Amino acid sequence: MQLPSALRQAIDQELTGITLADLAAASALLSQRYRAETRDGRFHLNDELAARAYLTTRMPATYSAISASFAAIIEAAPDFQPKSVLDVGAGPGTATWAASSIWDSITDGTLIEASTAIRMVGERLSKALPLDRVTWLAQRIGDGLRDAPSADLVVLAYVLDELDRAARTPLIARLWELTAHTMVIIEPGTTEGWKRILAARDQLIAGGAHILAPCPHAETCPLLAPDWCHFSARTARSRLHREAKGGSVPWEDEKFIYLGVSRHPAISHAPRVLAPPHVSKAGVSLKLCQPDGSAAARTVAKRDGAAFKAAKKLDWGDAAPIRSSPPTEQQH
Ligand SMILES: C[S@@+](CC[C@H](N)C(=O)[O-])C[C@H]1O[C@@H](n2cnc3c(N)ncnc32)[C@H](O)[C@@H]1O
Repeated sequence: MQLPSALRQAIDQELTGITLADLAAASALLSQRYRAETRDGRFHLNDELAARAYLTTRMPATYSAISASFAAIIEAAPDFQPKSVLDVGAGPGTATWAASSIWDSITDGTLIEASTAIRMVGERLSKALPLDRVTWLAQRIGDGLRDAPSADLVVLAYVLDELDRAARTPLIARLWELTAHTMVIIEPGTTEGWKRILAARDQLIAGGAHILAPCPHAETCPLLAPDWCHFSARTARSRLHREAKGGSVPWEDEKFIYLGVSRHPAISHAPRVLAPPHVSKAGVSLKLCQPDGSAAARTVAKRDGAAFKAAKKLDWGDAAPIRSSPPTEQQH
């Protein structure tokens, strides 16, 4: 996954004049704060250098994870043609960029961001967005988002982990109120990120939301700790990204977890592939979350012909519209 070229060019403009040493130091500090899930009352992106480090080392990865989540929404709701997007905790506008490159029906974007440093950068980048109207609101999520408009698509990407626990439930409730059609939440693919998504899932189901993805059901999640649900999105790394992180590989795998819910049910639910498929002489082994609410390891045998061929094409995170062989091992 690559950022759209208009966005890449706008980012390049933002990064002119910055030294590699400054960028590497700011990236290291940012990684450390994200890894520790530091909540010290300060925004992680609280100055220009941190904002530019985010553009270089985090935005490509969050863009890939958000785009992969949106791709699953399209499979579950192919007729969904949003006209408006509300991007809360927008940072540099990552989710708005991803949404507008996936749904060309979108004409209006509203982006809410409380950190001045990243909002200024995002506002400049968003001049290149292919939308009719883009509105940035300098608002704090804790203030109740009173002035926020409702939108067809509401997105909360990589934000819950920065909020105090007490702020999460009222925020999810308010965002659901503002959701005209579909809401998508994305979090880092850690056990803590998964738990935050599970809590939001329970709350939204209780509020009448239909699950679009990744779960093919609205039953209790069948996975039990230490197991957890997450996915992976491959992201191209620019030269600057590699240099700032001291890495040599031209890509990285972003682990993430997401939830898509809607006011309308999914057109259908197929089993979801919960781990990288394993191909052996016997066939393709898949860990699946299934529409009946169970998780199971299933093997599609070579002798199953067309089903085997289809299973070989499946990847971690895909919906698996195949007839599988009976469960070989019940997960929980
Ligand atoms: C990790 S960044 C994610 C940015 C973007 N959504 C993305 O996925 O790339 C989290 C963003 O949420 C913003 N944020 C955190 N707490 C907030 C709050 N209380 N009110 C508004 N924005 C907040 C941060 O300033 C930051 O820009």
